[in-house]
This record gives sequence, C-alpha cells and structure tokens, in this order.
Amino acid sequence: MRIGVDYYPEQWDRSMWEKDAEAMARTGVKLVRIGEFAWSRLEPRDSEFDFFWLDDVISIFSKYSIGVILCAPTNCPPLWLYEAYPDIIQVGADGKRIQTGIRGHRCINAPMFQYYAKRITEQMIRRYSGNPTVVAWQIDNELEAYPCCCEVCKAKFRDWLASKYDTIENVNAAFGTSVWSGEYSSFEQIQPPTAYPKAWQNPSLCLEWYRFTSDSTANFLKELMLVIRLEDTKVPITTNTWFSENTPDFYQMFEFMDFVSYDNYPPVSIPNDTEEFYSHAFHLDLMRGIKEKNFWVMEQLSGPTGSWMPMSQTPRPGQIKGYSMQALVHGASAVVHFRWRTALTGAEMYWHGILDHSNKPNRRYLEFSELCKSVSQLSILDDTEIISDIAILYSPETDAAFKIQPQVEGFYYLEQLKAFHAAFTHYGANIDVISPDTDISGYKLVIAPSLHINKRSVTENLYRYVINGGTLVLTARTGVKNELNNCIMDSLPTVFKELVGAEVTEYDPIGKHELTIRDFAGNEFVCKEWCDLLQLTTARAYAEYSDGFFDCTPAVTMNRYCNGVAYYVGTICEQDFYNSFASNLMMQTGIPKLKNLPDGVEVTTRTNGRDEYVCFFNNTNQTQTIPLPKPMFSMISSRGRDKLELDPFEMDIVRK
Ligand code: GLA
Ligand code: ZN
Repeated sequence: MRIGVDYYPEQWDRSMWEKDAEAMARTGVKLVRIGEFAWSRLEPRDSEFDFFWLDDVISIFSKYSIGVILCAPTNCPPLWLYEAYPDIIQVGADGKRIQTGIRGHRCINAPMFQYYAKRITEQMIRRYSGNPTVVAWQIDNELEAYPCCCEVCKAKFRDWLASKYDTIENVNAAFGTSVWSGEYSSFEQIQPPTAYPKAWQNPSLCLEWYRFTSDSTANFLKELMLVIRLEDTKVPITTNTWFSENTPDFYQMFEFMDFVSYDNYPPVSIPNDTEEFYSHAFHLDLMRGIKEKNFWVMEQLSGPTGSWMPMSQTPRPGQIKGYSMQALVHGASAVVHFRWRTALTGAEMYWHGILDHSNKPNRRYLEFSELCKSVSQLSILDDTEIISDIAILYSPETDAAFKIQPQVEGFYYLEQLKAFHAAFTHYGANIDVISPDTDISGYKLVIAPSLHINKRSVTENLYRYVINGGTLVLTARTGVKNELNNCIMDSLPTVFKELVGAEVTEYDPIGKHELTIRDFAGNEFVCKEWCDLLQLTTARAYAEYSDGFFDCTPAVTMNRYCNGVAYYVGTICEQDFYNSFASNLMMQTGIPKLKNLPDGVEVTTRTNGRDEYVCFFNNTNQTQTIPLPKPMFSMISSRGRDKLELDPFEMDIVRK
C-alpha cells in the first residue's frame, strides 16, 4: 500500500522540483503522478518533441526513490494542433464547436486527433520504457462517454448502427419509429439525440447513442494500450475514472487496462442522513468490483474543493487520513492525493491540494504525513484481500436507461444499490459490487436492484444461481425493458415472473407520497416512490402494504425456486426497512453479523488465508466506542485492545 501525490512540474519553476521531491520523500510519499495535461510542453510545435525537462523531473524523483505514474497527455492537445485541425474539437448539442482554452474537449473519434495522440504516446513510451522509476502508465484523464456531435462522430454512429442492424428497416423496427412519424428512410437521417426537450427523443436511439459513445471511449483506450504495449510489455497500464453524467460502461472501459484507477472525492460536510455515510464506501466497492481485484485511487481529496463551483468546507480533522485509509482497506493498493500543492494560476486555483498557495506546512499536511507513516507500517495488509459473501449487481446499461427516462420523483438507481449496501455495512459485512455478467455462483446472497434492461445472459445467470441454491433479491422496475430499451408486452417482472413466483398486476408511482408496509413480524416501514401491486403464484408475502387502496396486498415476496430462494421488493423504503431485511437475509443465509456497531462505523475484513484483519473506520464526526468480542491486537497502536475508542474518521485495524 502506497501513498502518492499528483504533481504538475510544468506549473512550477524548475528550481522548485527538487525541493518538492525532497519534501515529498521526507513526508513518506512513494508515488507521484505527472504529465496528463502537459502536451504543449512535450511537443511545443508539430513534430518537435521536448522531453529534456521530463527526463530531469523523472531523474529527480528517482533520486528520492519516488515511483512515477507517467501519463499520456492526450487530455489537452496543444493550440497548434487545434489550429491545424479545427475538426478535432468536440461539437456540442447546439452544433457548435467548443471553444479552445479549456481541457478535455478533443474528439476522441477524430482521425487526426487519434494520429497525434498515438504519436505523442509512442514517443513518451519509447523514451521511458525500461526506466525503473516509471511504475505505471496512465492513459488520458477522466475519459467520459463524450456526446460529441461532430461529423465524424455522427458518421461513425451511423456506421455503428449499420453494422449492428444491417438495414434501415431493421432500425425502424427495432426503435419503433412509427411513433410520431419518426421513420428513417436512410442511415444518413439518423442524428444523435440532442433535440430539445431531450425526454421527447426515442429511448432506443438514446440507449444506442450511449452504447456508441461508451464504445468509442473503450476503443480509444484499447488503441492507446496497444501503442504502449508495442513499446513496453511490463509496466501496468491504467486510466482514471469517476462518476459523471456521461460515465462510460466501466466494465468495457477497463477490459484492456491492467488495473482500475478512481478519483475519490468524498463529501467533506457530514450529511444528516446516515444512509449517505456509506456512499463513498459503495463507490470504492464498485471500483474494486470492476476487475474483481485491487485498484488505485489516482486522485484523493486533499483540501477544500471548488473553482467551477463555490468552494466546499475544508476537510474536517481526521478526514485526510481517514478517507485514505478507508480507500486502502476497501482495495486501493495506492492512494494518490490531488494534489501536492494548490495551483497559483489557471482555472483550478481553488481546488486545493495538500499544501495551500502559501507552500507552508499546514494542518492538512501534518495529517497527511501521519497517514504516510501509518501506511508504511501496514505492509502486513499488502497480501490480504477482501472475500465477500454478498454481491450487489450494478448494470451500466440500466443506469443509462434510468438517466434517459427517470421513473418517478425521488427514484435513483444508484440510491437503491446504496440502500442495500448501507444495510449490510450496518452489520459489518464485506460487500462486492459487481457486473451482472460476473460469475456469482460463489456468493451466499446476491442483490440485483431494478435490473431494468433485460439481457438473456444475465437472466440465465440469475436463474442458474437460484436453481443451484443461491438467495437472490430483485426489486421493482426489474425486467421492464428489452435490450433496445423498449417495453415488453408481458406482466412484470416479465422474464423473472417464474423465478419470483409473483406478478405485478398494476403499479403506482407514488413519488414523494408515503405509505406504510408491514412485514411478517408486524414491523412497519415507510415506503415511497414506487409501489408494485403483486399477485402471488408460488411466492409468499414477506411484507404487505398497510395502507393505500391496496392495503393488505403483498409488497415484498419470497419464493422458493428449485434449491434457492428469490425475493422481490416491489416498493422503495426508508433505510430502516433495508436494515431489517438485510438482518433477516443474513440470518437465513448464514452470513455472520456484527451486532451493536454504532451508526456510521464501517468494518472491512481482509484475509491472507491464514490471518484475518478487521478494519474499523469511524465515518462520523463523533467519537465512537466499539466493544470487541474478545481482546485483540491493534495493528495501528501495536497493543492489545478489548474495546476501540475511535476519534472522528479514525481507523483501527485489529488481528482476529
Ligand atoms: C478531476 C481531474 C483533475 C482535477 C480534479 C479537481 O478529478 O481529473 O485533473 O481537475 O478534478 O479539480
Ligand atoms: Zn466527435
């Protein structure tokens, strides 16, 4: 486990590089990421490369034994390139080219951009391949599924559709374009879905556009990976990602990357709702689940954030260290902080790094150095891993479909996944967040909320899992659409009806209205947003609505199917329901629960096959006391403990 910083040598006078490297080394920094925006310095004019300054930077870091993550600088083409080839700039929904002078606005499908992007990458790799200071290659920066509407993207989208559908008649049939006289007579008529209002566009077209833009990003990554691999066969390759409006399909994006990198900016202000405490742990579990192995954090919260929005609060005492430790125990092999020092110039000058503009050691720096020290003593965790009994399935296509057509006020796909995640976290369980295409046979419990877009392979995966004895939870809005994002003429949850032993006879999108459900033990919970009215075939009711015109009808069901069990949650509840439901599910599937864990304390258990290490993270702004079942040895304070007293955002790790 290593701690690093993002560093921009091109933004600082040369005389500062060595002082900075020396200070980093003294602090305990082991990694530095450089170069992702430095193209204009590396190729100041067409074909004129200048790597001398980068040679210097790398040799300085090498002198201080700091490993370099070297980035292909393709995020920001230099102005000369835009001038020579104006059509490499993205075109917005308004049909206009985006203004230069910002970043990330190159069109990744533009042939001349691809040519120059590959060339600068090749030059860089040739020069530094075999350099022992370089520990990883990063391609570009925070790539999105860009909805670029330039002529190249439009033409490629049409080709993409033509190779998938063959004829325009097939497109018409698949998209159902007879609605609103939308029938195409040629592929040339197809436009990206940028009309206003957006919600009036054809949902099949919108989902296919998402798939195409996501594919474009994955292809760009693959092409650059091949350029790197031709020159260097050893150093691992990655790209850094995050959650944005245009998030690409993570599983596809990272298929040819050696590891996943994530930019982690947990919120600084403490939400009132305890449910939200767990959301960044959820993101970390999702990142680990993309390749089902450890990942890196390539950018980590270090100071007040801001610049393109008003500034946030500064990280509270404990958060710099605590949030990094949280990422490490959830599977980050490295946490690289954004950034060593805050920029004095440029648009980003209020997105703070560890050091402020003053360059003087501050409170955050002191906490960061403590983090570096603690992590250097945790090498015992290096060969440990997280083994989970529980999986939550995340589908990028379903996520995209819900963004295209929000279902009802208050309903968010990821919130449902997080509600379950929070519930299991409440009982100290490890949780994997993985793709519905993953082999799930090894899990005791699988939660697949709102799998909206049906995919045959996924349907089979879930049936097989239950047939072989698994316990599965499905929820409302499952099975609604086919792969074309069209509704299916069948009662819900369509292909899963038999599995859940119930069918939806009607639904009520109640939005912000609240109703109540009562479970088999008489516990009552508030439900909102969505109510499926269910008729049971082979299932039994786990909970019923206790008001509304469907009073006393089933809201949550349980069905034994072959050797397994399938639950269906036909509504969306407040957190206490998920906690109670999770408790019952864990009991029934024999998954151990940690009792009396204070709200907001997270537990991650890591194992190397021999020893188990239990990591307790206080994700609250109050001191928390956690009783231990027996005296245990703390890896942080190096002494035996029979209870833990954790300061706000403090982590302790005990050996079981
Ligand atoms: C993103 C980018 C970084 C930086 C940070 C904070 O995560 O990748 O380059 O801009 O935002 O502003
Ligand atoms: Zn384009």
